[in-house]
Amino acid sequence: MAQVGIFVGTVYGNALLVAEDAEAILTKQGHQVTLFEEGTLEAWQCYRSHYALVVTSTTGQGNLPDSIVPLYEAIREQLGYQPELRYGIIALGDSSYDHFCGAGRSFDALLQEQGAARLGERLEIDAMEQPEPEVVSGPWVQQWGTLLK
Ligand SMILES: Cc1cc2nc3c(=O)[nH]c(=O)nc-3n(C[C@H](O)[C@H](O)[C@H](O)COP(=O)(O)O)c2cc1C
Repeated sequence: MAQVGIFVGTVYGNALLVAEDAEAILTKQGHQVTLFEEGTLEAWQCYRSHYALVVTSTTGQGNLPDSIVPLYEAIREQLGYQPELRYGIIALGDSSYDHFCGAGRSFDALLQEQGAARLGERLEIDAMEQPEPEVVSGPWVQQWGTLLK
């Protein structure tokens, strides 16, 4: 059983639905899960030596939603190196936009720069192809949950 913090960035609620679905799946697997809709650095720090799952859509032109910008900036500005952190990323986007899944990709790049270890591949969900993102995220989360110790 692992401790997992799910950090959500959403504008219209799709990423939140995916995150809630992930919370249910991981909890069923026996993990101890907390979901943060407006995550703070303080909450993030609780998972530094555990697991973080970032679930974020992209808005504007490849931008992070306002609900997750403060966390992203705090991590970038206040944490330099977090090698004990293990994390996963689910990025929601739409391939008709120029910067497909830009927010999830930026978050992933930041955590990589800071030495964190990504578990599994980044999941990118394209709203053009998949109107129900949980259909794609569900099996991915099931598999991701098996990687946690
Ligand atoms: C105004 C607006 C801007 C968007 N910009 C992007 C973008 O730059 N890149 C991308 O991949 N998707 C973009 N999207 C698509 C959303 O990320 C996608 O619809 C996602 O499922 C929304 O999830 P949410 O409800 O959690 O915000 C944009 C959507 C809107 C409405």
